[in-house]
Amino acid sequence: MIRTLLKKIESDKAVVGVIGLGYVGLPLVREFTRGGLCVIGFDVDAAKVKALTAGRSYIEHIPSRTVKDMVRSGRFEATTDFARLGEGDCLLICVPTPLTKQREPDMTYVEATVHSIAATLRKGQLVVLESTTYPGTSREVMLPILEQAGLKVGRDFFLAYSPEREDPGRKDYSTRTIPKVVGGHDKPSLSAAVALYEKAIETVVPVSSTAAAEACKILENTYRCVNIALVNELKMLFDRMGIDVWEVIAAAATKPFGFQPFYPGPGLGGHCIPIDPFYLSWKARQYDLSTRFIELAGEVNVSMPRFVVAKVMEALNAKGKALKGSRILLLGLAYKKDVDDVRESPSLTLIELLQSHGGKVDYNDPHVPRTHRMREHDLKMKSVPLTAAALRKYDAVLISTDHSAYDYQFVVDHARLVVDTRNATASVRRGRRRIVKA
Ligand SMILES: NC(=O)c1ccc[n+]([C@@H]2O[C@H](COP(=O)([O-])OP(=O)(O)OC[C@H]3O[C@@H](n4cnc5c(N)ncnc54)[C@H](O)[C@@H]3O)[C@@H](O)[C@H]2O)c1
Repeated sequence: MIRTLLKKIESDKAVVGVIGLGYVGLPLVREFTRGGLCVIGFDVDAAKVKALTAGRSYIEHIPSRTVKDMVRSGRFEATTDFARLGEGDCLLICVPTPLTKQREPDMTYVEATVHSIAATLRKGQLVVLESTTYPGTSREVMLPILEQAGLKVGRDFFLAYSPEREDPGRKDYSTRTIPKVVGGHDKPSLSAAVALYEKAIETVVPVSSTAAAEACKILENTYRCVNIALVNELKMLFDRMGIDVWEVIAAAATKPFGFQPFYPGPGLGGHCIPIDPFYLSWKARQYDLSTRFIELAGEVNVSMPRFVVAKVMEALNAKGKALKGSRILLLGLAYKKDVDDVRESPSLTLIELLQSHGGKVDYNDPHVPRTHRMREHDLKMKSVPLTAAALRKYDAVLISTDHSAYDYQFVVDHARLVVDTRNATASVRRGRRRIVKA
């Protein structure tokens, strides 16, 4: 079976099925179609399938032109028909892996997808999970479901894990140039997965097992989470000591070895860093260990919006104003610069906290024209225009996300007070007295 599959991949005849056409799935579709393979995209969201079929993108950094090119090339089609999963030789799963309300892994999306695959599983198929998850998922969750179909892994079908390292908004690396770690359930599975990714990705990094690949992704995200918490904690300490944490980090970063700069902010955001480490904490409990670094980092990072709100209060107070009744303009709703993704964005928490203290809050974000209903937030707000006259109306402008589209000198020129959580105003020359770092 493995020889047939490898031959199909090598001769560009393998059909790739990408399941979950979001921030991770869609760039993968693009790379495989560019690599010369035919791709079927599967999603439960009929609106997304309809948009893609019509050549329209719903992700800001993937232009509609790219989607049109993919469709026109005849190498891409999108569908909600999961009965067609059997048409794919290689199935890549890119569905969400969020946390439940109890902050435990919510595997329902992965399980639902694997059940759909099992329903049509045939000899010669490769199944790869790309979603971030705890070590052991492929073997303990996916394999038993897949083998229910009566086929044997490593002989009849193949199973691998390859974590997505997508960093939306990044300009120096792309899906194609970010090295891709791949772990197989067995040797044939690994060889099939490596051969497949080599069609679309410049550097493929094989590891010894699916668990090692799963652990690799969690290590990367935990490393970021813990280091961001460290600089966030130091920011609060240095603030009390009258030391600028950004100046300190810039100076420390001149050390040519042994130091990698991480930057503080208003809290953690996005679909990965605030969530993924808790997948590992959950799994660790099964092994009678508690991941104290992760818990502590979570505590520090979660407390950041409250620190920022306290700084806004102090800054208003210094001007003889209370937060209650003050007008605040928050800049940047997305969780990080130059993207349109608001999942887990600390800006949402900031708005709710400011409102809970009686602040009258508007926001501006060139990438997010309006808010939409989310699991934990429903703000029902629209981005307001960022004009000189508008800026003058607010008691404070709070920079939450440092989008490149903003002219920070313009903001400082026209605002009465600027509270900056990102050091976005570092190069502003005029009006520095109106800036408070938070
Ligand atoms: N966004 C990132 O930057 C990023 C980076 C690395 C890893 N990841 C991981 O990749 C995974 C996917 O994240 P994302 O950001 O692409 O999410 P997303 O929400 O943008 O996309 C997920 C897609 O899956 C679809 N979907 C949901 N249930 C489905 C099902 N049962 N069958 C088919 N489709 C289904 C949704 O409609 C959506 O289009 C997550 O595990 C995430 O942690 C994300």
